[in-house]
Amino acid sequence: MKDMSEFPQKTDGETRDTTPAFVYATRRDWAGYFEVTQGRPPRDTLLHALELFSQEANDRTRFAVDLGCGEGRDTAELLRQGWKVHAIDGHPDGLTRLMHRDDHDAMERLTMQLASLERVELPKCDLLNASFSLPFCAPDHFEAMWGRIVDAIDVGGRFSGQLFGDRDSWASIPDRSHFTRNQIEALLAPFEIELLKEEEREGQDCSGVSKHWHVFHIVARKK
Ligand SMILES: C[S@@+](CC[C@H](N)C(=O)[O-])C[C@H]1O[C@@H](n2cnc3c(N)ncnc32)[C@H](O)[C@@H]1O
Repeated sequence: MKDMSEFPQKTDGETRDTTPAFVYATRRDWAGYFEVTQGRPPRDTLLHALELFSQEANDRTRFAVDLGCGEGRDTAELLRQGWKVHAIDGHPDGLTRLMHRDDHDAMERLTMQLASLERVELPKCDLLNASFSLPFCAPDHFEAMWGRIVDAIDVGGRFSGQLFGDRDSWASIPDRSHFTRNQIEALLAPFEIELLKEEEREGQDCSGVSKHWHVFHIVARKK
């Protein structure tokens, strides 16, 4: 699996903004985050889950929830691969950008919802994808939200996405949800783990501000 380093710097030459996306995510500046990540490819955790689904017999249109979909890099891939998708985000700009994407032609298979991680009710699904969004759930709501995620996924369905570790720099920000490896393994008890990749590394923005990354990349099948 290729490097899943996250929040990279935008380098396509079309923008003057070379700020790494993590700087925007640190301060929850989602409009800025979407601007610098617009058009990036789908996440490897999603692609891994889709590859596993493709190896299983199926005669119907599968249904995914993309929780914290942002501007829709994963939703667009799901649509391209023939899935129905319910895309949820707490920021209207992400959903507006998703609506105007031109890299899929399947609006009839897409529904969108403006909602918070803390309160959203989740429909039953084959796949619950949450790429780099769950650490932004308020800690006092995380347990209930994770319970709703587990309940939403059908037996044999999958979770794909990230949870953040206790050694990540953002763990000291009071409104973030971070976990030890043991805690993450406990959260994944209702699943058969298909991928659990722990990534730990140093990152830096252009002005030298450093960030320690501690991220768990997850694909797991509901038992
Ligand atoms: C780091 S971005 C990830 C976006 C996208 N999934 C991706 O992989 O690029 C986090 C996303 O979570 C959303 N988000 C953050 N906190 C949220 C909350 N409390 N409720 C709903 N969405 C939230 C943001 O609007 C943003 O789109």
